[in-house]
Amino acid sequence: MVRKIVFLGPPGAGKGTQAVRLAHELGAPHIATGDLLRSEVQNKTELGMKAKSYMDRGELVPDELVVAMIRGRLENASGFVLDGFPRNLKQAQLLSGVTRVERAVHFALSREEIVKRLSARRICTQCGQVYNLLARPPKHDEICDACHTRLVQRSDDRPEVIENRVEVYTREIKPVLEFYQNQGALREVDARGSVEDVYRAVKRAVS
Ligand code: AP5
Repeated sequence: MVRKIVFLGPPGAGKGTQAVRLAHELGAPHIATGDLLRSEVQNKTELGMKAKSYMDRGELVPDELVVAMIRGRLENASGFVLDGFPRNLKQAQLLSGVTRVERAVHFALSREEIVKRLSARRICTQCGQVYNLLARPPKHDEICDACHTRLVQRSDDRPEVIENRVEVYTREIKPVLEFYQNQGALREVDARGSVEDVYRAVKRAVS
């Protein structure tokens, strides 16, 4: 299996769900720019204060802020599953100056399914576990199975913000896919199946 992997795909395609498992199996870090940014917001850091207004609107946080946040984690890493980065061509180019991506896995999912998954997503702010009220419900009504904290909906999973996130994704991703296609690194994964089906497809994509 390759070890320097980026996950590309629309919001709610299941990148985070699959990245946690793959990173665990590879023994490599899962680096999720969205999670890192949410933690900066929660801790009210300078970066978090700057990032919040972009995230609340479903816009991309400025490239230089995001690159500065992850550069140190990537520079000497022998492997990683990078989830949610790069999101535009500039980020892909900047990333190639920091490390060599071996495989870019693109999760394909329809807009209808994206909205369905994101509307039903609930997260635990205590331990980070991600649930889905339809596909992966907690055992007890909206309570985390692992740490018993009440689950919440992400603030950018409101319908109007979902809409904008999908717009931004659709606008920005094409040149990123071409960038990795030209390097022979791009693989497509059909994200419509069950979590298990999609994981099998991901494993084939990184073999
Ligand atoms: P980020 O957190 O990266 O959000 P995203 O890319 O929109 O992706 P999501 O986390 O919403 O979805 P996912 O694909 O990980 O799906 P998940 O596994 O949770 O970014 C948030 C914001 O941060 C951005 O809008 C931007 O402002 C900023 N940001 C982040 N990175 C940036 C960058 N590089 N540059 C600039 N700004 C940046 O699954 C979704 C749901 O579906 C869950 O409920 C899950 O349980 C369920 N599910 C998963 N798989 C399946 C399945 N196979 N079948 C049924 N349900 C499933």
